[in-house]
Amino acid sequence: MVGVGILAAALVTRDATAANAWFERQPYLQWDSETSRIVFAGPHDTSRTWRVRLQSALSGPDVNGVVVNMQTDGESGLMKATLGNLEPNRKYRYRVETDKEVDSWSSFVMPPLAGDKTAFRFVAYGDTRTLTTAHAQVAEAIAREPDLAFILHVGDLTENGNEKECWEREFFTPAAGMLRSAMLLPCLGNHDEHSQFYFNNFNLPRNPGNEAYYSLDFGKVHLIVIDQFQDYDGQSVQGRWIAKDLAGVPPDRWKVAHFHKPPFASYESDGDGVNMKVAEWLCPVFEKYGVDVIFAGHNHCYLRTCPIGTVGRKSPVYVITGGGGAPLDNPYQGAIVKSSYKGLQYCLVTVTPDQFTITAKDSGGKVIDQFTLRKNEIPTNSQDRQAIVASALKGWNGR
Ligand SMILES: [Fe+2]
Ligand SMILES: [Fe+2]
Repeated sequence: MVGVGILAAALVTRDATAANAWFERQPYLQWDSETSRIVFAGPHDTSRTWRVRLQSALSGPDVNGVVVNMQTDGESGLMKATLGNLEPNRKYRYRVETDKEVDSWSSFVMPPLAGDKTAFRFVAYGDTRTLTTAHAQVAEAIAREPDLAFILHVGDLTENGNEKECWEREFFTPAAGMLRSAMLLPCLGNHDEHSQFYFNNFNLPRNPGNEAYYSLDFGKVHLIVIDQFQDYDGQSVQGRWIAKDLAGVPPDRWKVAHFHKPPFASYESDGDGVNMKVAEWLCPVFEKYGVDVIFAGHNHCYLRTCPIGTVGRKSPVYVITGGGGAPLDNPYQGAIVKSSYKGLQYCLVTVTPDQFTITAKDSGGKVIDQFTLRKNEIPTNSQDRQAIVASALKGWNGR
């Protein structure tokens, strides 16, 4: 079990209510460091005095906790507080207060430190653009999942990343409840357009140096996030970093990658569902360094492939989790597909040192697929990547 989540049900207050209608942007959590988080909220209004009250979830409700003043954040144009010295595997609650208003309580859990064997949970979802009610349904289902260490978003957060209002309407308002209780770790989609609003709204790790691609460690998981809208071939700056980053991961870690466009089972295809650029630039690197699972979107559906790499060797599984609200797509059909679903969905992931379990759920929380990877287990149902690519090329060129 994760941390000390004994008060989970009682503490979760997630819907926008009259009590917190004064927010123009409801409070949301973001990455700061392994032991600290940022709370953003808006409007930016310095005529009020803003603060965040933070308590351990084990405390009684009458304790004062720690009070952190909120300051102007120049990048986001919001108010911001940094909550520091947070302990791993521990549950906290917080609320924003001003001299005029008091928010409802929200809670969050801190994940284990890098290398720690404590179990934890996270969610992967994405493609939340355009249909705000559909996105809200998925986000509300995710908000009902307790104790999420973080939420991965596989890109296309909004229809038009360069339109400021789009971020409120399509992303922050539908996801407000969810974003109070778990930090979002997104990657860039084509609709996000490398917009400055993306970089201003999220505080993401600067490892190796910008927020477009990055890697992080949580307990026994190493996460690498790739930006497909700048070069990522082996000669590029990002491509060289990807190989170097993965080469340095200790062998006891689960290796997880996420980015927007999948290499296989894709509607954006150079033949039979294969996106050649992704398949040629990334898949050999994933196989070489033993990446376990890849999450992608761009296709608005759920889909899981068999392990794809070299038959008889450990090979990555590719998961499309793009049913976050955008107009739905028919899943690709072919021999590599182990499970697929056309509908609103998200993936809940539970991690222990030995097992990595992905549970795909619909927007009502009903299970639509579940599978478990076991550490050091060689899959028996894998398919050969080079054969898949060669076959697709043949069909594409009509040869
Ligand atoms: Fe897309
Ligand atoms: Fe999309």
